[in-house]
Amino acid sequence: MTIRKILIYPDDQLRSIATPIADPTSAEIGALIQDLADTMYDAPGVGLAAPQIGISLRIAVTDTHWRSGRYEGVGAGEGPDRRLNVWINPEILWRSDVLQTYEEGCLSLPEMFADVSRPAAIRLRWLDEHGNKHERDFEGFEAVALQHEFDHLDGRVFIDHLSVIKRKMIHRKLLKRKKMMISSEESA
Ligand code: NI
Repeated sequence: MTIRKILIYPDDQLRSIATPIADPTSAEIGALIQDLADTMYDAPGVGLAAPQIGISLRIAVTDTHWRSGRYEGVGAGEGPDRRLNVWINPEILWRSDVLQTYEEGCLSLPEMFADVSRPAAIRLRWLDEHGNKHERDFEGFEAVALQHEFDHLDGRVFIDHLSVIKRKMIHRKLLKRKKMMISSEESA
């Protein structure tokens, strides 16, 4: 079990375009999936993309199933309710014109939350950890989580969807916090 360090915005690595994975079944990718899952559940979060731990590859993990438990005060990511999903080289083939708005947050933008509007439904093609190809439609919170995670593969974060004023406000807060974190690490 390896808990990796999650990069905190602003960070250039969160802005890079990730590379497709050639062999989803390789031992390296297997280890990466394990690290992503361990790190996500430890955080805890409902999704984590490889660029958030500094790996510029097109892969993300999600577990939207235990979200309900988290919000009802049940231990996040614990026990039999875990349902890990692995998304390799995901492609959004279609997006609905109808939008939906959810309050989003991100492990790379700690304690920042904002309402984000995105297509309410998407059609997705992806590979799983066995290298099998899938195509399916998603809606509701799952569609939100997937679009949020796959944004990370293209160097985007959720605040990019906000108005310039809101984005700058959150950017300033995080920049300030990051400077404080760095100075406390240096003095430790
Ligand atoms: Ni995120």
